[in-house]
Parts: sequence; C-alpha cells; structure tokens
Amino acid sequence: MANHEFDVSRRNLLGTLARGSAVAVALGEIKQGFARTLESLGSAPAAQPVEWREDGGYWAKVRKQFMLEEGFAYLNTGTLGPTPAPVFNAMTEYWRLMAVNPNENSQIFQDRIEEIRFKAASFVGAASPDEIAITRNTTEGNTILCHGLDLKQGDEIVMTAFEHNSNRETWRRQAKRFGLVVKEVKFPLPPTNQQILDAFEAAITPRSRVMHFNNPLGGYGCFLPVKQLAEMAHSKKMLCFIDGAHTLGMVQFNLVDWGVDGFACNSHKWLCGAAGAGILYVKRDVQERIWPDISILPWDREPKNARKYALSVGRRPWPCVAALEDSLDFQLAIGRARIEQRARSLGSYLRSKAAEIPKIKILTPTDPAMSCGATNLGLEGVSGQRFKEYLRQKYDAYIPGGGSTVRISTHFFNTFEQVDRVLKALRELATGVA
Ligand SMILES: Cc1ncc(COP(=O)(O)O)c(C=O)c1O
Repeated sequence: MANHEFDVSRRNLLGTLARGSAVAVALGEIKQGFARTLESLGSAPAAQPVEWREDGGYWAKVRKQFMLEEGFAYLNTGTLGPTPAPVFNAMTEYWRLMAVNPNENSQIFQDRIEEIRFKAASFVGAASPDEIAITRNTTEGNTILCHGLDLKQGDEIVMTAFEHNSNRETWRRQAKRFGLVVKEVKFPLPPTNQQILDAFEAAITPRSRVMHFNNPLGGYGCFLPVKQLAEMAHSKKMLCFIDGAHTLGMVQFNLVDWGVDGFACNSHKWLCGAAGAGILYVKRDVQERIWPDISILPWDREPKNARKYALSVGRRPWPCVAALEDSLDFQLAIGRARIEQRARSLGSYLRSKAAEIPKIKILTPTDPAMSCGATNLGLEGVSGQRFKEYLRQKYDAYIPGGGSTVRISTHFFNTFEQVDRVLKALRELATGVA
C-alpha cells in the first residue's frame, strides 16, 4: 500500500537544521551521525521469500543496533518496544542539550515540530500534515477524539469487546457523565472478516454515532476489515475512529485508503521509539466537529488544523518528540515493507508450528491478511503465568503472563531461533516434560 509522498528527505531536514546557532549545528551533527549508522546497515537482499529465514546476515546486522541483553529473547514489543542504539543515543544527546541550556534549546526542539508532523503525516498516509498532531501517546489521542465530540444522551458508541482500557474506559466515563451508551461487539477468536462485519452491523442502530475500535486487536494481533468497517460507519452517518496502538511500526498502512476519521498511536511499541510521543490523525473534514480537550492557549485562537489538538497539554518531553523523527527514520532506512514481512514471517512460523502441538489454542487468525507480528496462544491446563515463568527460566525469553493465554510479539529484531525456544517450551509443557 503506497503512502502519500511528501517531499521529505534527510538532506532537507539537515538543511532546515543549519540555522547557524551552535545548537543547530550540534543537532545537525547528531542527525549526520545517525544517518551514517543507518547507511552502514546496507540494503537488505532484494528477493524476499515468504519465510525469510536465511537472510545473509542482514537481520543480524539490524539486530546489533539494539541494546538488548546478549542471548535474551525479548518477545513483548506489543507492550513496550526496545529502543535501538542510534535512536537512544540521539535522544540522550537531546536531553543533554536541554540540560545545558533549557530555554533556548527546548525552543529549537519546539521549532522542529512542523518537520516532524510532516514526516509523521507521510508515514501514516494522511492527506496533509494539517491532519496530524503530535501527542504523548495513544491514550491522549483516544481521549481527544472521545472528549472532543458533542454527543447527546442516548447516543451510541460501538466498539469491540476486545478494547484496551485506554479506549473502553474513556468512553465508559463519558457514557456515565452524559448518558451515552457503549456497545461492545463480540465475535469468536480467531474470527473471520464476515463474523466481524456481521457483529458490527447487528449492533448499529439509528442512535449509533461513533465506531471506535483497536486495529489490530492489541491483545490478539488480529487485523479487522477496517476499510469495510469505515464504509459501514459512514453509510450509517457514523464516525470511525481507530486506536492504532499496535499499528505504527508493525505494518504499512495508509489512513486515506482506510477512510477513517481519526487514528491515535504511540511510538513506544512497534516503532521501537521513546515513550512520550504519539501521533494523532484527525481527518480534515471532521476537525470542526472535534474540540481540543485541554487549552493552554486561548481556545478561540487555536489554529484551524490538527495542531489545535497538540497545543493543549502544557510542556512536553521535547527530546522524546524529537526522537520520534529518528524512530521513523530508523524504520524508513530498513524499509517498512521488509519490517512488516519479517514480523509476519516470524509470526506465521510461530503460528504454523504451534498449531501442531497438542492442547494448543491459537486465538490469532492464521490468514496472513489478518495477522502479522503478534500471536495470542495458550495450552489447555497451563496458565499464562506458568508459561511465562518456564520460558523465562529455561529459555531466557520474555513474554507477558496474566491470563489463560499469552501474547507473543515477534518483531524484525527477533529471530527464528528465538521462536524455536517458544515452541520447545510449549511442547515440553504440553507433553508434561516440563
Ligand atoms: C490497544 C491499545 N490501546 C492503547 C494502549 C495504550 O497505549 P499508550 O501507552 O500509547 O497510551 C495500549 C497499550 O498497551 C493498547 O494495547
């Protein structure tokens, strides 16, 4: 899926940076060092077999950019992605610049926000940077979309029964305050597209105003038929908002193509960026209907574009915002298609081999169009906590525990050998060897 292309190149950005001040020069040097590191990765092999197991050393080189402990299999990007060294180094340098001259240097970061919005717009496939606000995280974006809309008593919001609190609780609170009705749509896991569409269709009534759901389902790695759902919403005069916490950095996508009205995401999961920066998209033709939530500037003088949503929260962690651009660049240098393919290859391998294990249940679809780097699975009679602890102790691998099933995140820095460790642990637990 092609992104809308804006004229963004590293050279342009460096040009804008060269403003003459010592700090601008320092920033330029950070960017140049960053670009050199990325160039040293070289290009990945052009041919990309579906199961890209033999990579001629390319992915090993990419993996070396990460600071994860040697031998440790980190399989929880879905909660918090690891920051690669080039991004980490740039960001710590930004923090140092803030420490040595707080006011003037933070202003330089604030001035860069326009370039970052520009790049973010291209990355998510917005029609224009005027549809982008830089937030702190997905929750802030979800909340702006939810609080900003004028709704009346009895109006309905339709979401899935598989939402993160960030979306569900925000709407439940509004429902309690303003007499709205939150409807949670259920379908079996793993679902088919038709089951998802039917469940939404059945829940919608003439009082339904908004669809707001996570895509992919964060806990289950399942992608919804988002284009069809957005069309369904619009045909019923509803708005369609996406909680995209697990989208940015895992898959390529294009919001214009999806046809949604709002989208919120963060940089600290699959983009492997710093916590403290997120992206909010609000389609231009709904901006008049969505108020900014908190106003630090006189609200009636707010700009007439999506910037109005980001002028609202007071001081930001500017080094994290500046590092968002580096995280985007890091992925662009590797190639988003390759990253998606690598994550999907690892995930598909895990799902297909796990399916052969007795007592397994896999809640993520096996259809590659509905899944990628996150897999939810479990063993009958074995708790998620037991699986988590066994994997950690015997195989030096980390997954989150908690429920009866677990989510395993396989991203581009993970390896097939690490997935094999998960499979071995599953087999041992399933056959009572553990
Ligand atoms: C689906 C989903 N939405 C929202 C969030 C909250 O994300 P953030 O920390 O960016 O606010 C998460 C975090 O795990 C999530 O999984």
